[in-house]
Amino acid sequence: MAIKKARIGILTGGGDCAGLNPAIKWVTKGLLDKDMSRLFRRKFEVVGIRNGWAGLVNGKPMQRGLNKDHFWILDEATVRTWDRLGGTNLGSSRTNPLKDEALLKKVIDNVDKNKFEAIVAIGGEDTQSVAEGLRQSGVNVVGIPKTIDKDLRGTDYTLGFSTAVEVIRQEIGRLRTTAGSHQRLFVVETMGRHAGHLALQGGIAGGACMILIPEVDFEMDRVIETLKKRKSSGARYDILVVAEGAKPVSRTYEVVQSREKDDFGHVMLGGIGDQLKDAIKQSGISEVRSVVLSHLQRGGEPNGYDVRMGRAFGLAASELIHAGSYGNMVALRDNRIVSIPFTEAIQRNEKGEVILNLVNVEMEYDEKRYIGKRRTLNTKFI
Ligand code: F6P
Repeated sequence: MAIKKARIGILTGGGDCAGLNPAIKWVTKGLLDKDMSRLFRRKFEVVGIRNGWAGLVNGKPMQRGLNKDHFWILDEATVRTWDRLGGTNLGSSRTNPLKDEALLKKVIDNVDKNKFEAIVAIGGEDTQSVAEGLRQSGVNVVGIPKTIDKDLRGTDYTLGFSTAVEVIRQEIGRLRTTAGSHQRLFVVETMGRHAGHLALQGGIAGGACMILIPEVDFEMDRVIETLKKRKSSGARYDILVVAEGAKPVSRTYEVVQSREKDDFGHVMLGGIGDQLKDAIKQSGISEVRSVVLSHLQRGGEPNGYDVRMGRAFGLAASELIHAGSYGNMVALRDNRIVSIPFTEAIQRNEKGEVILNLVNVEMEYDEKRYIGKRRTLNTKFI
């Protein structure tokens, strides 16, 4: 007897980054794989959901079939080259259906009426928190972690991080030549929100002299002192990296570009680089410029690691679906691809905020010198 095809939806939510398209490709290929179908006696139709959770909020079923404005049937030919491409071909949004009961109901209705057996949610803590909310409401979900911030708990890796670190390294390399030519100091502001992983690893890869992270408030005087010492010991130019969420001890809140909150309650961080530049300028140590790397860190094609991790996570998610195992997120743990309950990735504090994976300051960061720790033996390396 012919096996009936089950419909699986894939969406990408939150900020785009490199690694999403490879993951979409490999979920699709894994689900359509003939050997896997024979082994598990399961067949699938794969549907890309456009613009993250917005696609499921708005994707009401048509009289005949799927609404093409919101859904896109994916086959092997369509996704063949996607692992080479940056961003997400499905589009993304910061729509949060958990914000409002009516939106959540629309999503659950649309999952049901469009006959989705399960939804694969590729995203960071916001997207996975919605997936967890849907799981609690009885929807079958599988999560794939991505975020350049690497602040999602439960996994050692999130798609996009490695490519973003590489962008920082390359951009610092470019700044180094002009900084050297003009004997200037460059302040480079990275993304990362409340987590310093991106600034720390990008700064280390780029050879920055100082890296300021959100986990440790910095003393402005100490920053200036260190720069002065470096200059007097012969440094002709310097690169200082600051995470957008870092702040001096004198401030209560991070520097923001706008206080307006997105659907998940995040304000738009940014501007600390310029403030540092002004403070350094006032001290008269050297000529100083600041550069905000901004969305460059999310753009461009995935590097080799994100292509490989997109494949590994995508295939693992498809294996879970073949096996009918729902309610989990795939993850990297101690160099193994595993599946973990959403509740390990999404835990909330007493204010209801998702608890983030932050830099382990004791293991990774030198709080005196504002730089990566010089002792690495027996530390976890990602
Ligand atoms: O969470 C990813 C991230 O790139 C953060 O590092 C940054 O603060 C934020 O998204 C920027 O968001 P937007 O895409 O809305 O500008």
